[in-house]
Amino acid sequence: MKLFCTLFALAGLSSHVQAQAPASPPQPATPSLDFLFSVNVSMGLSLKVGTGVMKTTRAVFPISGGQAVGPKVSAKVLEVGADWALYGTLLNGTNVADDDVASKNPNATTFFATDARFQLLTLDGAYIMVETKGQTATPESDPKSTGAVHVRATFSTVSKAYSWLNDILSVGILRTNNDGYEIDLWRMVTP
Ligand SMILES: *[C@@H]1O[C@H](CO)[C@@H](O)[C@H](O)[C@H]1NC(C)=O
Ligand SMILES: *[C@@H]1O[C@H](CO)[C@@H](O)[C@H](O)[C@H]1NC(C)=O
Ligand SMILES: *[C@@H]1O[C@H](CO)[C@@H](O)[C@H](O)[C@H]1NC(C)=O
Repeated sequence: MKLFCTLFALAGLSSHVQAQAPASPPQPATPSLDFLFSVNVSMGLSLKVGTGVMKTTRAVFPISGGQAVGPKVSAKVLEVGADWALYGTLLNGTNVADDDVASKNPNATTFFATDARFQLLTLDGAYIMVETKGQTATPESDPKSTGAVHVRATFSTVSKAYSWLNDILSVGILRTNNDGYEIDLWRMVTP
């Protein structure tokens, strides 16, 4: 009787395993994002300094000011810092900005890559250095992309009130505008 029960249990187990086999493995819980702040960064006239990946234009944009507003940080952007950026109009993986016909091809997409350092001074008197890096997302890298620039950001400050910023993992979305760009920034939170 005991043997019968064991065989029965094993049979039940094996059919259970077979039924489970086609299912995908369990997925870990997804981290969430906690909004930090939005920052407008104004740029002065750029200095073109060469060519980057995919024949894009490499230019250094001086940062001339701006402001950060949000639940975690409110600050002004000081008139120091720069963005060592790349930009262009991509078609077939190459910059065609100087080609009148190709740049008007509906398949052409704008490209911007950011590599910036700038300095915040919070309304309560703390200095926070911000470094951002990233580039325009593609339909392959982000199926929901609408040409937004995805950035990762790091912060450096000696202020006790803001030192937690030194330790976070931060991501954001950058959108260019007439003055420069605006970046919305979040930190990752463990589920
Ligand atoms: C940035 O500038 C835009 C356009 O002027 C404005 O709508 C937005 O509120 C500004 N954001 C911040 C954080 O200052
Ligand atoms: C893009 O590449 C494809 C395949 O290589 C080619 O057929 C097409 O002519 C190219 N388009 C342009 C505008 O260069
Ligand atoms: C845009 O790309 C699609 C898919 O590769 C292609 O079929 C189409 O001809 C392209 N359009 C132009 C104007 O090059």
